[in-house]
Amino acid sequence: MTATATTSRHIVLTGATGQIAPLVVRHLAAHHRLTLTSRTARTTTRRPGAEHVACDYDAPESLVDAFRGADALFVVTNDPTRPEHDRNILKAAVEASVGHIVKLSAAAVHDRGAQDLVTRWQRDNEERIRRSGIPWTMIQPRLFMSHALAWASSIRTAGVTYALHPHSRNACIAPEDIAEASARVLGDAQHHFRSYELTGPQSLTAHEQSAVLAELLGRPLVCRELSRAEAHASYSRRYPTAMADALVASAERQLAGAKARTTDTVERLTGRPATTFAEWAARHRDRFV
Ligand SMILES: NC(=O)c1ccc[n+]([C@@H]2O[C@H](COP(=O)([O-])OP(=O)(O)OC[C@H]3O[C@@H](n4cnc5c(N)ncnc54)[C@H](OP(=O)(O)O)[C@@H]3O)[C@@H](O)[C@H]2O)c1
Repeated sequence: MTATATTSRHIVLTGATGQIAPLVVRHLAAHHRLTLTSRTARTTTRRPGAEHVACDYDAPESLVDAFRGADALFVVTNDPTRPEHDRNILKAAVEASVGHIVKLSAAAVHDRGAQDLVTRWQRDNEERIRRSGIPWTMIQPRLFMSHALAWASSIRTAGVTYALHPHSRNACIAPEDIAEASARVLGDAQHHFRSYELTGPQSLTAHEQSAVLAELLGRPLVCRELSRAEAHASYSRRYPTAMADALVASAERQLAGAKARTTDTVERLTGRPATTFAEWAARHRDRFV
């Protein structure tokens, strides 16, 4: 066993109530000290010894307290209309002398044509971290496969899935793969100053995802094409207009083929093949019935 594998580190994970950070925790060795953060300190993991502390990206002093002594910090933010969140996190990380930042970013930063709000926000976040003087690793995933869970209700009630440009391809990735890859790099100097573009093993259309789900559930599903206006209206019910615009722009890039490329990065980091959509769906079958 290498010294790296056995060295105990203090790892702080932001986004402890979100999708990825709780999954990262499952892949971190038991000898690490873990601090999990979100605005409310509610327990989301059964990991013994993990401390869950409250902090707020809008309250910089709470961040310094939470990050102090961290050998590695996993950074998750989710509001592109609030760039100050990432600025505050980075300032606090510098003040708290954090040893390594692993940033949950997005593969879209590599898409040359991507100039929407979300992609510009992630590029700015990455650039700021790169200039900070703290060793960094960028985790850059494609669309999370878990977006298919948005179809759960319409599948149950009407046997319908829906998408803007349902024939366009996305190399979507299982959140569990993003988490395992992130756990592999946290606090490991071999991964300092590296960016990892993570995708699933195949590039699928919404029609193909629907077919996978139909096979899994043993009943026919119809994949309905949304117009741009319908998609924008649906995004606008959940997000500010600027975000809805960005999501429609993102779908247009997908139509142009920008999101179809697959990488072997999951396998290189974890030593096993990336999860297929069929495998991911089978593991989450109960969510669709
Ligand atoms: N979804 C995708 O397909 C996809 C693809 C590529 C990249 N990404 C990137 O992945 C990241 C995660 O996105 P997500 O929407 O999936 O996130 P998420 O799982 O909803 O996680 C957000 C986390 O941030 C915490 N948080 C939010 N505001 C906070 C604040 N003011 N202070 C402290 N904690 C706060 C939340 O905790 P509380 O609210 O409990 O405080 C929550 O734990 C984003 O950067 C996104 O761009 C997503």
